[in-house]
Amino acid sequence: MKRRRLAYCGFYTFAQPNFFILDPELSKRILSKDFQHFTDRCFFVNEEIDPFSAHLLSLKGSQWKLRRNKISPTFTSGKMKMMFETLLNCTKDLRVLMEDFAENYQIFNANEIFERFTIDIIGSCGFGIECNSLRDPNSEFTKYGKKALKEGAWHQFKMNVSIFAPNLFDSFRIPLNSPDVTRFFMNTVKETLRYREENNVVRKDFMHLMIQLKNNVKIENDDNIGELKSKDSGTAVSLTDQQIAAEAFLFFFAGFETSARTLTFCFYELASNMEIQEKLRTEIQNVLAKYGGRVTYDAVMEMTYMQKCISETLRKYPPIPGITRKCTERYKLPDTNVIIEKDVLIFVPISAFHHDPEYYPNPEKFDPERFSSENQFGRHQYAWLPFGEGPRACIGMRFAIMQVKVGLAALLQKYKFSVNSKTQIPFVFDPMHVFLTPKHGIWLNVEKIK
Ligand code: HEM
Repeated sequence: MKRRRLAYCGFYTFAQPNFFILDPELSKRILSKDFQHFTDRCFFVNEEIDPFSAHLLSLKGSQWKLRRNKISPTFTSGKMKMMFETLLNCTKDLRVLMEDFAENYQIFNANEIFERFTIDIIGSCGFGIECNSLRDPNSEFTKYGKKALKEGAWHQFKMNVSIFAPNLFDSFRIPLNSPDVTRFFMNTVKETLRYREENNVVRKDFMHLMIQLKNNVKIENDDNIGELKSKDSGTAVSLTDQQIAAEAFLFFFAGFETSARTLTFCFYELASNMEIQEKLRTEIQNVLAKYGGRVTYDAVMEMTYMQKCISETLRKYPPIPGITRKCTERYKLPDTNVIIEKDVLIFVPISAFHHDPEYYPNPEKFDPERFSSENQFGRHQYAWLPFGEGPRACIGMRFAIMQVKVGLAALLQKYKFSVNSKTQIPFVFDPMHVFLTPKHGIWLNVEKIK
């Protein structure tokens, strides 16, 4: 279709019509300019059958708008700064583990280690608990967290059916999430809320912000992130314990694997491109020298070459390779006679844009300089969409980038990474996984810098 220079095409999944976008400009219309026609996704949501199905990712229309306005202030740069120390604490165990690998000349599976690292982070910053996944890979939190995402063929089948025929779930009252996973996360959140409220515990994390929302304490939206122009400011509606649990579960679900993958793919490319690794290390060491060797929020924000490396990693390996919208109001494509009818599903193929030589010449090459201001100038803004775009873009982008930056700074400051005979080059992706995942892991060497 692209070779035929089409801006869109269509296909059916059983009886469900899908509209497939091939042009960044058209993506911009649907995701942003004409968003009011495409406000929803196509995920199953029914709070009664499955309490964890009703969260930001799946909520629709005005319910989503209210929730987004309510939660947006918890993701501002001010709140990220506030949580920074909580997040940084999770790097202690990561360094202990690396030290051990380096001393024993032991290769490690970056995919697995970074999953455990981001589970610790989201457990600590999202749920307010120390899950010690780096120290104990079999901890309860890790077990249920992984189960929520990797439940094999039956879960995959349910996920697919929930997209194309969500009504079946309503009719047969089938929950999308396993009852034991729901029970575990629900109990964890309820117990944390109870303990904090009874003991007046204040911790610098999302859970504290959620408790404030529950008690109708107004949280400043310090930099207007994600605030929607709407009369429903969302401030008058408080959150219930169940809604807090559903959002915390979503932060976990949406945050841990995506961020772990970004770290994994970035370390894979750095280990394969020593010059880039050295250049990034030099930046880290120079910036940290100004901050007395300490990794601080301001220090990582100053690391501009690091930002380019992360942007290029997310270009080459977008953890979520495509996004969807549902047409909620009949729409006429501008300057054509084409009508998109209500209920048609829209697909935006992020990974296809990211690998299109029209926007990224020699797309398989890892080149952070694609994200210098000169090279970005002139490229369509919607040709880079790892976090989606428009009012429904990823709310956790800042948090995700902050944890990736902290992981990179903490490790590259002290250790050098390289590939070895067990590293699969190029690696293959696991077709059974929701997010972009290396099928056989990414095995790396680590060496302490003298
Ligand atoms: C590198 C890591 C991450 C990537 C690549 C990523 C990517 C995405 C993408 C592509 C979407 C859909 C956007 C759209 O449809 O336009 C999304 C939505 C979302 N993400 Fe992320 N995400 C990441 C990390 C996180 C984290 C850490 C959190 C929370 C702590 C989070 C929370 C969410 C939520 C709540 C939504 C739904 C927003 C809404 O519909 O209003 N994400 N993410």
